[in-house]
Amino acid sequence: MTKTPVGVLISGSGTNLQALIDACAQPDYPAEIAVVISNKKSAFGLERAREAGIETAWLPARPHPSRESHEQRITETLEKHGAQWVVCAGYMRVLSAAFIQTWPHRILNIHPSLLPAFPGIDAQGQAHAGGVRISGATVHLVDEGCDTGPILAQAATAVLDDDDRDALQQRILKLEHVLYPRVLRWAVEDRIEVVEGKANIRLNPWEKRFFWADPE
Ligand code: GRF
Repeated sequence: MTKTPVGVLISGSGTNLQALIDACAQPDYPAEIAVVISNKKSAFGLERAREAGIETAWLPARPHPSRESHEQRITETLEKHGAQWVVCAGYMRVLSAAFIQTWPHRILNIHPSLLPAFPGIDAQGQAHAGGVRISGATVHLVDEGCDTGPILAQAATAVLDDDDRDALQQRILKLEHVLYPRVLRWAVEDRIEVVEGKANIRLNPWEKRFFWADPE
């Protein structure tokens, strides 16, 4: 099968990247990771990519005079590798309007809360501090707001009485690793359409845009 090349942006450990690498290794999975780009040299995700034989690029922001020029480098690198989609997987920088307009409805992000609850940094800490009983993960298209783009899919789980923030983070991460490869498939199969700010997805009868996972 022909696989659609995608580029993954990371800043850190890259457990979501690993889930995507593993999915892309399946012969019947329709995406392939053409390049992994990190703004942080020490991101362990770069190691994961190299291990999997994937091209990597370390593109720090610091030498650039502006966000736009840094992101221009990112776009050039993505284009050089033929990426059709941009997959943010723990990329810890806000993307500029210019970058988003360069990739219209072509940037995915995963966020560790049930958006629109708890956007921004430390979503798990916000959820824990807020005392919610259910939280989860959201995959959405990136728009110019902070975690506000059209929601593609969500996965939910319980917050337990004796959870600390880190226990909740780990439980949500497990959901993320299932959710992200599912949604990337829909993206590269061009099954997503945005109408009046909301995403419609042509689903097969066995597919759902949500799931619940009981705590283990
Ligand atoms: C995840 O919690 C993701 O939802 C958020 O950043 C974290 C990245 O973790 N955007 P990892 O690098 O994939 O392990």
